[in-house]
Amino acid sequence: MFQGRVVLITGAARGIGRAIAEAFAEERALLVLCDVRPEGLEVAKRLGALFVYADIAQALHRERFVEQATKQWGGVHVLVNNAAIAAPGSALKVGLAEWQQTLEVNLTAPMHLSALAAREMVRSGGGAIVNVASVQGLFAEQNNAAYNASKGGLVNLTRSLALDLAPMNIRVNAVAPGAIATESVLEAIQMSEDPELTRQDWEDLHALRRLGKPEEVAQAVVFLASERASFITGAILPVDGGMTASFMMAGRPV
Ligand SMILES: NC(=O)c1ccc[n+]([C@@H]2O[C@H](COP(=O)([O-])OP(=O)(O)OC[C@H]3O[C@@H](n4cnc5c(N)ncnc54)[C@H](O)[C@@H]3O)[C@@H](O)[C@H]2O)c1
Repeated sequence: MFQGRVVLITGAARGIGRAIAEAFAEERALLVLCDVRPEGLEVAKRLGALFVYADIAQALHRERFVEQATKQWGGVHVLVNNAAIAAPGSALKVGLAEWQQTLEVNLTAPMHLSALAAREMVRSGGGAIVNVASVQGLFAEQNNAAYNASKGGLVNLTRSLALDLAPMNIRVNAVAPGAIATESVLEAIQMSEDPELTRQDWEDLHALRRLGKPEEVAQAVVFLASERASFITGAILPVDGGMTASFMMAGRPV
């Protein structure tokens, strides 16, 4: 489905980003991956992709990422804004530096990268952007103010970009995952006081009463980027096992 199409993915060294890269590789896309983790190079080698070491908090790195992609493959067709950082903490306690870094990585970088990639997509006659938001962009979690705000911003940025880029035949959508069994989530569960109970609690947040798999998010991203979603733009697709279908915590008995 993506043969000859150039797909850029941020934060592809592990977790959901790596699963997205694997899913696009199965579709024979020409991949350009970036990350600040050196493991990204191994992922890229395995998938025949180009790896660009880029810290998306830095404007110059963002520019270099898109430039190198264009230089390598001659254009850009798809951008997946996946990389993000967590920033747990109460709204009253979050430090200004941490707030700014979270907004820079989770919101400003997707905006700037989208603008840079869109310029290249225009030259190819159009393209697609998929943002990896979160259920925390739709509703807030206690003690997670900076992350909630960044993902809420990303949700409405997705709609804004969809409107502004539609005349250029560029579609922009987002996925909003629930709790997904990535390395970072499994580490957080393991580090909690009672890992078994924590895992059960997290599973019970979802109507399907389990954690999602990175591949399940990746399939939704590939769909939104594909021609099968040709009349879908400005949409926020929950990939959350029914978590946000409920006004209560979905899987819990009432
Ligand atoms: N795992 C979940 O349960 C979950 C739920 C909802 C949304 N999400 C979202 O999915 C995306 C991926 O989550 P994950 O769990 O795989 O996270 P993760 O922390 O495992 O992976 C994120 C990747 O992004 C990279 N990254 C972070 N900052 C970067 C920067 N400044 N420049 C370049 N790369 C950077 C990291 O090195 C890492 O490889 C994120 O946007 C996250 O907010 C995850």
